[in-house]
Amino acid sequence: MNNQKKTILSGIQPSGRLHLGNYFGAIHQHLDFQHKGDAFYFIANYHSLTSLQDGEKLRQYTYEVALDYLALGMDPNKCTFFAQSDVPQVLELTWILGTLTPVSLMEKGVSYKDKVAQGMQPNIGLFTYPVLQAADILIYHSDIVPVGADQKQNIEISRDLAARFNYTYKGDYLRIPEPHIVESVATVPGVDGRKMSKSYDNTIDIFDKGKALKKKVMSIKTNSTPMEDPKDPDACNVFALIRLFASKDKVEEIADKYNKGGYGYGHAKKELLALIQDYFGEAHERRQELSGNPDMVWDMLRDGGRKARERAESVMADIRDVTGIVKNHTTRI
Ligand code: ADP
Ligand code: TRP
Repeated sequence: MNNQKKTILSGIQPSGRLHLGNYFGAIHQHLDFQHKGDAFYFIANYHSLTSLQDGEKLRQYTYEVALDYLALGMDPNKCTFFAQSDVPQVLELTWILGTLTPVSLMEKGVSYKDKVAQGMQPNIGLFTYPVLQAADILIYHSDIVPVGADQKQNIEISRDLAARFNYTYKGDYLRIPEPHIVESVATVPGVDGRKMSKSYDNTIDIFDKGKALKKKVMSIKTNSTPMEDPKDPDACNVFALIRLFASKDKVEEIADKYNKGGYGYGHAKKELLALIQDYFGEAHERRQELSGNPDMVWDMLRDGGRKARERAESVMADIRDVTGIVKNHTTRI
């Protein structure tokens, strides 16, 4: 049993272009984990409908997220990469889990409350978002779910719903997943110093380049300490980003320059710009090459979808059986 490969699963919403927060909070881990088990990664396009209601854009971002992951080093021969919507069984399980979900559990959703506080419409999709996420996870018998720290509660809810299902139907039908969170990655700040997020319009995107990238880096908010004066690196947004890209020695060297003075924020921004360009240089080239072959990207998603559906259907068949849901037509595989 111990030698059996663990199932690793995670998803990412295609609600916009991927940014440095997404990369260091989630994508970096996904890439790491693809070598460590049987990994399933998907583009959570149904989830995106809770915030993006523009068909053309959703299709475009779905494609771009796939392209971005490939360019960043995801290997479709090592893991199964697919679109959530290619596994209709997930929606079937969402309904069944919904019948076991207390309204009070959803009302405690931190992410739901935050989004409503930011002005989003409190629709049913947004409210039950964690149930769809639980179905995403449970339908593959996932063991490990690598996510950013803000997803902790959603994984807790998935665990809770799996346990409720098993208790109600008296058996170990659904596996209880474990989250995997890299606690050392703090929240990545955006150019305005708040959490980097698509909804704050403060992102530096992974595939920003040239003048656009430079403009964003140069616009990072700093305080007005004069160039000659010593500065506290730990209170600086530019330094927080430098930390993510630079080697340990380089981080120390730059921290020294901050502490000594005679080193301005403009200098730090230039160093950061060079670090970002260097870090993502290869990925930019690969993306450029891959973008000449969109069919390859769609084919990869289709193949991944087929594999994911096979796994999902085998779990769903047992779920239908134990819940007494009769299904007389064969589900597409
Ligand atoms: P956004 O806030 O831009 O809409 P998402 O909510 O779609 O981003 O986040 C997708 C993943 O990226 C999540 O796992 C989340 O933890 C991670 N993530 C997003 N922004 C940040 C950030 N600023 N710092 C660290 N991780 C982040
Ligand atoms: N809610 C996740 C996010 O915003 C995306 C997601 C959807 C997900 N389904 C999932 C993550 C299942 C992990 C597992 O980042």
